Amino acid sequence: MDKIAIIGGNQLNGKIKISGAKNSALKLQAASLLTSEPCVFTNMPELADTRFMVELLEQLGVTVYWPKGSGRMQTHVPEIRSTIAPYDLVRKMRATFNVLGPLLAREGHATVSLPGGCAIGARPVDLHLKAFEAMGADIVIEGGYVKAAALRGLKGAHIVFPFVSVGATEHAMLAATLAQGDTILENAAREPEIVDIANCLIAMGAKIEGAGTSTIKIQGVTSLKGINYKVIPDRIEAGTFACVVAATGGEVILEDVVPETMGAVLDALRRAGVGVETGADFIKISRDPKSIIKAVDIDTQPHPGFPTDVQAQFMGLMTIADGVSIFRENIFENRFMHAPELRRLGADITVRGNEAVVRGVKQLKGAQVMATDLRASVSLVIAGLVAEGETTIGRVYHLDRGFENLEQKLTNCGANIVRKAGE
Ligand code: UD1
Repeated sequence: MDKIAIIGGNQLNGKIKISGAKNSALKLQAASLLTSEPCVFTNMPELADTRFMVELLEQLGVTVYWPKGSGRMQTHVPEIRSTIAPYDLVRKMRATFNVLGPLLAREGHATVSLPGGCAIGARPVDLHLKAFEAMGADIVIEGGYVKAAALRGLKGAHIVFPFVSVGATEHAMLAATLAQGDTILENAAREPEIVDIANCLIAMGAKIEGAGTSTIKIQGVTSLKGINYKVIPDRIEAGTFACVVAATGGEVILEDVVPETMGAVLDALRRAGVGVETGADFIKISRDPKSIIKAVDIDTQPHPGFPTDVQAQFMGLMTIADGVSIFRENIFENRFMHAPELRRLGADITVRGNEAVVRGVKQLKGAQVMATDLRASVSLVIAGLVAEGETTIGRVYHLDRGFENLEQKLTNCGANIVRKAGE
């Protein structure tokens, strides 16, 4: 299994081009099942997760053309060959579950394994299934599979989510585009990826209003057409590199970003004393390595609050802050798995339930650590880059799920980070 080796202590300077957003790309890939016409997606990130989704799409009968290094993916599925998404593919990555809605909407039935994915909590799919039931689908769970049928088609419904779920909002929106009649989603999630997916669906001929607010209205249409669509930049990747530069010091311009999707993270960085300048599509992050990082408390919330997906990275930064910061994780129940690993590098972190207390230390020291989930693993990269000496990170396949060319992007800015294959 690959490992990453880092020698800490270098400040970073230069430019980093941010990739397309994983969390949008995966749902756009699922959306391509809604049309029999070809779709082209540009700025498509080359990640383990987007490759898992390709494997599943191909199994369902989609022809996928995705030349390496091009960032351009073409999909075409004139006819769905199979409506079964098997356990082996869905367990690898939770977002593959999102093919259920499009299959149900287009074919009237689907059998999809219950998902696996990051070990950051129970992560049920009850809200997804309730939404489809409200739209007239019969749902049975048998042998770890969801069997859904709406043989006379899905029907528009008024769905009020009991709490905010990004996945359920997106999934219901995808399916509702081809339902008969109007669907209203209330207490919908407002993440920028939802707006991106809605924009793509609208360009495919869907009738959607209100994406990005807590009420989304979808007027069903009978068919959708092909599309050429550019995936929105990844605000989580951008937030991650911003935390990296804040921690190491230096000056890095993050290119091809949408700063207004990153308000809470940029605000937290400014409060920590980090230099943040924004332009139309770039963010400049700067910090004098000799300056103090101020302790900032973090409360994760649905968008526009502080994203849970940047919590681990910000904690990596706070391990060397001047003072005590308190993290409250309000989205997932088991999302502090990076804390014990950060402690191996000398961080002072105490976890109590959904709260972590981080007492900043003067200097971290390199150690051997293990990646536990996607975002947790990159917080170890941040800590490794500021630690004295060598840090090695095992189980880096977690990183490959969500970060495109991570080592390359960091090396270009002066980091000492290498991948050691097969150790
Ligand atoms: C998506 C993102 C993930 C991000 C999360 C929150 C993708 C591929 N993943 O995950 O990176 O961390 O949003 O911003 O886009 N829940 C239920 N029942 C459901 C659905 C969710 O109880 O049917 C719970 C979850 O366990 C969690 C909370 O609701 O505690 C929020 O989850 P949700 O917003 O659905 O996250 P995901 O869509 O899984």
